[in-house]
Amino acid sequence: MTDPKADTFAAVDAEALEKQATTEIASAETLDELDAARVKYLGRKSELKLALRDVRDRETGMTLNALRERLETAVAEKQNQLETAELERVYAESAVDVTLPGERVARGRLHLLTQIKREIEDIFLGMGYEVFEGPEVVTAWQNFDALTTDRGHPSRSPNDTFYLTDDVLLRTHTSPDQIRLMESRQPPIYAIMPGRVYRRDTPDATHSPTFLQVEALVVDRGITLADLKGSVLHFFRQLFGPTREVRMRTSFFPFTEPSVEFDVTCFICDAQGCPVCKHSGWIEMGGAGWVDPQVFVNVGYDPEEWSGFAFGLGIERIAMLRHGLPDLRLFWENDVRVLEQF
Ligand code: DAH
Repeated sequence: MTDPKADTFAAVDAEALEKQATTEIASAETLDELDAARVKYLGRKSELKLALRDVRDRETGMTLNALRERLETAVAEKQNQLETAELERVYAESAVDVTLPGERVARGRLHLLTQIKREIEDIFLGMGYEVFEGPEVVTAWQNFDALTTDRGHPSRSPNDTFYLTDDVLLRTHTSPDQIRLMESRQPPIYAIMPGRVYRRDTPDATHSPTFLQVEALVVDRGITLADLKGSVLHFFRQLFGPTREVRMRTSFFPFTEPSVEFDVTCFICDAQGCPVCKHSGWIEMGGAGWVDPQVFVNVGYDPEEWSGFAFGLGIERIAMLRHGLPDLRLFWENDVRVLEQF
């Protein structure tokens, strides 16, 4: 059908044009496609714009302008819609999925020896003992003389001990902490003293120039060797399980009389016999004894009034036995593959 006004506005079929343009705008899937449709129907060289330029009568002008406005609105709405969809897509891609498991953060942990030291402290704190830490640099009096270690004792040799001066040294055991503690106060004393000690040893699987010990000292009225045995037994049952037994063998230390070494029934094989206890069922744990009265005299205590016991044991040894670690050097090489296992 021919429009009667066709010759006045370049023969635009407004209805058909609108239909076609609206469909194309609506079906644009991307901003580029939409822009192509916009250029095609609303651009400077579009049929509509050319018709508008040539329009002669007012009515046609109004019709075409109204159409232009509708198409512009349609383009703007579509553009809005596509932009929103695009934003949503970008958000969805970059958003955090809170239901996903998080990345594991590597946590540090306490060194095995620190763990065991704290375990020991906890057991003794539970028995009402105090924890006391003395210095690593001590006098020869504290390390040897007060502990009645005589001048000729081989452990005093500079081949065995790190001397800083003639009279000052790195403690070779935690026993000088006994002296410092007793010199600083009056009994009763129930204390343990964990700490680092030093000896001139070449490192190998079972020797080290430095290692950890824990010392125990009890001073009170009427303390006997039975108290020593009971305390040590309780300690080992806490540390290694309730079926442990303790035995004492006579020994010698300059600062205890009598002196003993104590063994605990093997906690690996439950005393059945295994390589750790060398098939004896017993594991050597440390030295102990009834405090020599001369030590009390040396710190100014009256040995007629006070009596006590002391013992000392190695912390690395406990860790090695408990975990089957074959080499002392593993403790300070700080290989994370080893440390991570505890
Ligand atoms: N101080 C000794 C050492 O390092 C161990 C020791 C033995 C400590 C007997 C004591 C004790 O308190 O009574 O070999």
